[in-house]
Formats: sequence, structure tokens, C-alpha cells
Amino acid sequence: MSVWHIAGGRRLHGSAPVQGAKNAVLPIMAASVLAPGETELTNVPELRDVDATLRILRGLGCRVEREADAVYIDSSALTRAEIPHGLMRELRSSVIFLGALLARCGEARLSMPGGCELGPRPIDLHLMALRALGADIEERGGELICSAPEGLRGAAVALPLPSVGATENAMLCACAAEGETVIMNAAREPEIGELQAFLRTLGADVSGAGSATVRVRGRRLRPFRAEHRIMPDRIVSATLLAACAAAGGEVELLGVQPQHFSTVLHSLSGCGCDIMTGTGRVRLRREGNLLAPPPVITGPYPAFPTDAQPLMLAACLKARGTSVFVENVFQNRFRFAEELCRLGARIHTEGRVAVVTGVDELHGAPAVATDLRGGAALIIAALSASGETDILDSGHVARGYERFDRQLASLGADIELRD
Ligand code: UD1
Repeated sequence: MSVWHIAGGRRLHGSAPVQGAKNAVLPIMAASVLAPGETELTNVPELRDVDATLRILRGLGCRVEREADAVYIDSSALTRAEIPHGLMRELRSSVIFLGALLARCGEARLSMPGGCELGPRPIDLHLMALRALGADIEERGGELICSAPEGLRGAAVALPLPSVGATENAMLCACAAEGETVIMNAAREPEIGELQAFLRTLGADVSGAGSATVRVRGRRLRPFRAEHRIMPDRIVSATLLAACAAAGGEVELLGVQPQHFSTVLHSLSGCGCDIMTGTGRVRLRREGNLLAPPPVITGPYPAFPTDAQPLMLAACLKARGTSVFVENVFQNRFRFAEELCRLGARIHTEGRVAVVTGVDELHGAPAVATDLRGGAALIIAALSASGETDILDSGHVARGYERFDRQLASLGADIELRD
């Protein structure tokens, strides 16, 4: 168990580069097994989830090397289409290997990823999409046993919800399905576009990412050599800006794509922050008090991202007036609110809605990180609180933030991660 020790009340100043995107690198690493080949990825963040994915790749027989921000994967020696339970439990998004392994081996065997701290996270849409492409999936004793006895064939896949993971799984599997696959009501998140770009470097015929209709013309992928730089993380960008909004000061983020988190910028500007964007950069300045923003309503991209909701909420704890948050993507995404209240926040939650009444002061207190973004929200609140806060964290924040203590300290925060 580690502890984030934060002495609040310091304004943030300076510029910071932003790490590569966790939610982009994970499906791309899974895609690297689609055919025998060599993949070199750069700007890969050092995260617990990335480490777990590297272990999965090794377990499948791939040769994997990591050096600084580069990861090299040689999938020519892939020998297994099975992921052990221990690794599946570590990483919910490992379910993405289902589509990739089916495409490569015509079979896959892994255990159900199970629920998580954000409430039940079913995979019914993933399975529906893969079955539409010809997969035979048996759910036996918590295991998923998948095969394609008659081969994979392209099909129309209409998703009832624009699920990010189900869209990615369908895209991966469809690369090896004979004929054309049309994924309708596809997720439109920027990470889908990033996956499409990588699949094209492998020689796959994929188009439409970023729109609600993604098309894949399946073909036999030849051995490949692919190089790809991972896009900047839009949720980490949102976190650093929310931290500056909460603590005050002026921060510039470098190497980012502001158009990917424009709804967050809009909300922060609605709080009274000055925001300037340029190519690959965004600067936020906060002087004086924040004001409650217009209601923050989460939804699939391009709506306000659910992953940034806890961060924005933490930034608004001292904002003048009443801030309203509506969570439309996950149930149970307000568990961190109770922990924020230990620092003196006034938050009332009911079902999918949280109402924050701005307070004049937050004070340091012991608290517990309930999940990845909930943990980041606590850190943001602690930065704007007077006194010291200790946040007990069983590794949640390290799943998504690379050396977050050092990054915040470089901006002037008094923060230490104690193991
Ligand atoms: C991805 C992101 C996660 C983000 C989420 C929503 C990764 C690794 N994770 O998660 O950070 O919070 O998108 O932007 O990219 N659903 C079903 N059945 C399914 C699949 C999903 O009912 O088979 C529901 C979920 O319970 C949820 C909603 O659909 O309510 C959206 O989930 P989804 O877009 O699939 O999220 P993930 O891909 O798991």
C-alpha cells in the first residue's frame, strides 16, 4: 500500500509534457498479435496496466522488450491463445485480446474479466460483436472458450451502445474476417482513430474511425514491421488542468491535442479559468475564485468524458455556487465523493447525479483512493486544501499516471509518494 502525502495550498506554475495515452496503447498492444510481426511503439507510458499487458504478451509467447518510452513486441513466436486468470484479473481491458487472438489463431481462451470499482462492467456487447463475425463462444465456469469452426466472416454489427471496448474488439477480429464488416453505432473516441491508424500500418483495410460507422475489409495480414508513436493522454491532460484550476496558478501542457478534450476546456473556462490553446499546447491560468460551471453531463465522445468527471468535480469543490454533475456512462462513479467530504467538501449524490456546494476552505485529512480517477480527484482536492493530506492507495493511481508525484512536484506542488 502506498501513500500520497500532500501539503496543500501551493499554486502550480510551469510547463509539463503529457504522457502517452493508456487507453490508446492497450488495444494497440493487443493488435500487435494480429499477424506475425514486429511492432515498435514509442511514447509508451510506464504504467501498471502497460506492465500487465506486457506480461500477457510474454505469456502468449511474444518476445517483448521495453527501453525508456519504447516498447518492442515480436509476435512471430506466438504459441498460445490463452490468458491465465491471474493476468485477466489485473486488467479489465485484457478482454480486448479476445478479438485479436481469434483473428490470429481462430481460437482464444480467457477468464471473464469480472466487475470493477465503477460498478458492473458487462462484456455482452463484445461477445455479441464477435459472435456476429462467426465466433462460437462458450461461457463455462467463469471461462470464455472461443473458436471459429467455420472461419470468421464479415458482417453488419449494430452496437446498442457505442462501447469503446466492443468497437475495438470488433475491429480487431474483423481484420481477419472474410469480406466486409460494418460496425454501426461505433464509439467515436479519439483512441478508436488511433487504433485504426495502427491497424493500417499492419496492412489492414479499416476506415471510418471517428464517425459512428467503422468499416473493415478483412484480409490475410502478412508478416509486418510497424512503428507507431502513441498519442498524448487526454485524461491526464484534463487532470493537470483541473489541478491547476483547483490550486490556482498558470500551467502549460506540451505535446497535447486540445481538440480531444475540448468539452473539459469548455467547462474549465465556464468556471472562470483563462484558457489558451495552440498547436500541440494548452495553457490554463486561474486567478481569484472559481465559479460553478454549467452542468457537467458525461456521455460517449464527443460528450464530456466520464473519466474526467471526478477530476472536474474535484476542481469545483471551492467554486462559488452549486455545481451539478450527471454521470451517464458508469454506475457507482461517485464513490470517491465520500472521501472528498473528509477534506470538508459538500457533495450530495443521488443515483447518477452529484451536487457540489462550493465551500470557502478545504482542510487536509486522511483519505483512501477508491479507483484510478477517484484517486486523482483526491490528489487535486488535497492540492487546494490547507494542511496535509495522506491518501492511502493500493496502486489505483499508478494504473493511469506515470510518475504523477514528480510531474506535480515539477509544477510546484508539495507532494510525495511514500511506499
Ligand atoms: C473505455 C476506457 C475507460 C472509459 C470508457 C468510457 C479503455 C481501456 N477504457 O472503457 O477508461 O471510462 O471507455 O469512455 O479504453 N457496456 C455494456 N456491455 C458491454 C460493454 C460496455 O453494457 O459489453 C456498458 C458499460 O457498462 C458502460 C458503457 O457501456 O456503462 C460504456 O463502456 P465502454 O465504452 O465499453 O467502456 P470500456 O471500453 O470498458
